[in-house]
Amino acid sequence: MTTQVKKICCLGAGYVGGPTCAVIAHKCPHIQVTIVDLNETRINAWNSDNLPIYEPGLDKIVFDRRGKNLFFTTEVDKAINEADLIFVSVNTPTKKAGMGAGYAADLAYIESATRQIAEVARSSKIVVEKSTVPCRTAESMRTILEANSHDDIRFDILSNPEFLAEGTAINDLLYPDRVLIGGLQTPEGFKAQQALAEIYEQWVPKDKIITTNLWSSELSKLAANALLAQRISSINALSAICEATGADIDEVAYACGRDSRIGPRFLKASVGFGGSCFQKDILNLVYLSEQLNLPEVAAYWKQVVDLNEYQKKRFVSRIIKTLFNTITNKRIAVLGFAFKKDTGDTRESAAITLCKDFIQENARVYIYDPKVSEQQIFYDLSGPEVTYDIKDLKKRVTIVQSAYEASANADAIVVATEWDEFKELDFERIYKSMNKPAFIFDGRLILDAEKLKSIGFRVHTIGRANF
Ligand code: UDX
Ligand code: UDX
Repeated sequence: MTTQVKKICCLGAGYVGGPTCAVIAHKCPHIQVTIVDLNETRINAWNSDNLPIYEPGLDKIVFDRRGKNLFFTTEVDKAINEADLIFVSVNTPTKKAGMGAGYAADLAYIESATRQIAEVARSSKIVVEKSTVPCRTAESMRTILEANSHDDIRFDILSNPEFLAEGTAINDLLYPDRVLIGGLQTPEGFKAQQALAEIYEQWVPKDKIITTNLWSSELSKLAANALLAQRISSINALSAICEATGADIDEVAYACGRDSRIGPRFLKASVGFGGSCFQKDILNLVYLSEQLNLPEVAAYWKQVVDLNEYQKKRFVSRIIKTLFNTITNKRIAVLGFAFKKDTGDTRESAAITLCKDFIQENARVYIYDPKVSEQQIFYDLSGPEVTYDIKDLKKRVTIVQSAYEASANADAIVVATEWDEFKELDFERIYKSMNKPAFIFDGRLILDAEKLKSIGFRVHTIGRANF
């Protein structure tokens, strides 16, 4: 089957744009895919042996297609001009200042990308919103594009939100639950939807490709993330009840998840969800609800984020209380810094909150994560709550190369990320190397508490009581 689209350009070589377009290049060798970014360092990394993001299976695909039908460049205008279809995958961070600060998405990058397309395009384009945006953003993009279009150039706007999760991005892209394509309900809109659908049809079964109107597509992305995050906050709220009653959250989650109407996935209690999307997208939904004069709806979704903050603080206070109400100068080993396993991404990671709290309590923090760089950890931990001075930070924080190094002479181990390797550790060896009593706080419910207790550890697990 041939598609109308021969050349694709993707604006934004991040966690979304990079893997998504690499998979399109892999599955559609007849399409030339060019990924552009303003950040030259990032593009250079995409062109090197050391890709800027870690994602299982990504290297192989990029190395296989790069230079053939997959290109990374900073030549934005040229790539826009050559493309039939343009993905807009630039970031949409939460606004830090101005109207909606702390809640609304900052659409400045989306707007500048749209204006750039309007300015440089010399032929018709399908412009696809990949970035997660507030409902009705496509309308603004369309207005800008139409106001700038020339006589024989037309722009069609589509919304095609990306549902991949980090750590499983390649698998999610190869075998998506669904692909969502929103378009205007006009003959041109349907044609554009069809052109994008034909690309995905190269590897995704047709019945998994859903077409909707633009606004449903935009809102569905926010809604899906809000529903997923809400499940985690729900199970985490229940974990607090478990700790106070003697119920076990894993048992409760299993029992509930066996109900086919509830289902088993996304019911793992934790120290709190992180990642670049959940919090940002919910706050976005909260802001949207407020703008629509729906304060009760806004408050409902806001509670999902509030509960997440509460969960992190609750875990920290349990640790401090257990360690005899002080962690001053105690050595705490933090295992894991990424927001989940199998990624080097630390955005909104619960580990950041935990470590900052430990530093404020004057603990000595030893951190080990298999994929996060020392530089990234210090960057994440510096800030107004602690200090901007990395030298000062280094007096309190040490980054080490293994869980064993982190645990040696430690008073407590805190599991912050569910890396598989933490389950396989030699805990007899670790126990011997620690100060006694040796405490373990499992914020991810991945360790065998009974086995650890038999070694001699004092074990505290989220969602389980210590009577
Ligand atoms: C981001 C958003 O977080 C997500 O909500 C959205 O769905 C897609 O974009 P991600 O790919 O994880 O996801 O962001 P990031 O890794 O920050 O990548 C965005 C890239 O766009 C960066 O490399 C940045 O340099 C680039 N960019 C940004 C541009 O090339 N031009 C701009 O004007 C702005
Ligand atoms: C999420 C959505 O899953 C994805 O569809 C969307 O495109 C982007 O946002 P991501 O943030 O990459 O993906 O990872 P996800 O697997 O959803 O995990 C988010 C956070 O929730 C992580 O911190 C994870 O540890 C936590 N989590 C997840 C739990 O605490 N318990 C669970 O049961 C599942």
